[in-house]
Amino acid sequence: MGKYQLIATAAMGLEALVAKEVRSLGYNCEVENGKVTYTGDEAAIARSNLWLRTADRIKIKVGEFKAFTFDELFEKTKALPWEQFLPEDAEFPVIGKSVKSKLFSVSDCQAIVKKAVVERLKKHYKRNSWFEENGALYRIEVAMLKDVATITIDASGSGLHKRGYRIDQGEAPLKETLAAALVMLTNWQADRPFMDPFCGSGTIPIEAAMIGQNIAPGFNREFVSEAWKWIPEKVWHDARMEAEDLAKYDQPLDITGSDIDHRMVRIAEGNAVEAGFGDLIHFKQMQVRDISTSMEYGVIVGNPPYGERLGDKKAVEQMYKEMGQAFSKLDTWSIYIMTSNEEFEQFYGKPATKKRKLFNGFIRTDLYQYWGKRPPRQ
Ligand SMILES: C[S@@+](CC[C@H](N)C(=O)[O-])C[C@H]1O[C@@H](n2cnc3c(N)ncnc32)[C@H](O)[C@@H]1O
Repeated sequence: MGKYQLIATAAMGLEALVAKEVRSLGYNCEVENGKVTYTGDEAAIARSNLWLRTADRIKIKVGEFKAFTFDELFEKTKALPWEQFLPEDAEFPVIGKSVKSKLFSVSDCQAIVKKAVVERLKKHYKRNSWFEENGALYRIEVAMLKDVATITIDASGSGLHKRGYRIDQGEAPLKETLAAALVMLTNWQADRPFMDPFCGSGTIPIEAAMIGQNIAPGFNREFVSEAWKWIPEKVWHDARMEAEDLAKYDQPLDITGSDIDHRMVRIAEGNAVEAGFGDLIHFKQMQVRDISTSMEYGVIVGNPPYGERLGDKKAVEQMYKEMGQAFSKLDTWSIYIMTSNEEFEQFYGKPATKKRKLFNGFIRTDLYQYWGKRPPRQ
């Protein structure tokens, strides 16, 4: 087994959650802006891809060095052990980004890195001709930040938010990684009821069900690194077997998703079936103001409309008011609402126990948290 420097990339504000997940997989890690770094073997690559619910993707760090000139970028890239990762038939496109660096031309950085990798591989594979690049994909990234080049290979392929269950969606679906983060921030446990009153395409209830039954979020999809020869098939097999063993398919769940729009309810139902929760999550058409329940100590997580479009604001604020009235009766429930509306608490009618800044894509939002009473000890 080799040792690799791994990077789990994270959306702004989710780094600490990603780090918590990496640690619970058994790897010590360091947290930086937008990423969590750690050391691991081939199994760590497979397990991270399969298990991390809140990370965007897993990358392997091939090297990191200062580069002020293209010569330096070329020589230091060429000095990296590319043949350890890339076979002779590897397809290796290079993407790039540059922030606050002398080497600001991204296209030039990409071309230099490509040339350096080709030179290195030509020498190693004793070739004079071009590489056909008709084998497995190794997407290389050169990321320049303050004159430091970080060179990585993407081990995920499609972003980790692509779980494979979303066959249809509404207008403003949440990224699955953010939906999982919202559920994890509540500390909800599977023995408590869970509700999403603005379920849209069902992302939050589906992520909650996967968390409740401890199902690995990547269980139903493939990763680009599965095609890499230097990760033995057995490693992936074992990681999938581990996920299968740890899944608690018998864990009963009480998860409900509702939405004012019956078309969304149908879409959410379809996605839940695709995720394997067709019978487990209950979806219904309902306005938030009509929500009432005799159940206790549940958790509500909602991503309502923010009213950012012209003309929607007044209606949305009225809806926040009605939501506050309906939820005031649920005094044992914990309620978490994510919105960009800075006056949310006024409309809702109650100051939040705690607020947490989160980004929904580029929209800055707050997660307004209203903590309910603790359930009595059994
Ligand atoms: C931002 S979307 C939620 C997206 C969802 N989290 C997803 O991943 O697809 C907001 C949803 O709230 C619903 N909605 C709007 N007003 C509502 C109301 N008064 N009661 C219940 N649902 C409402 C909309 O139909 C829409 O599906």
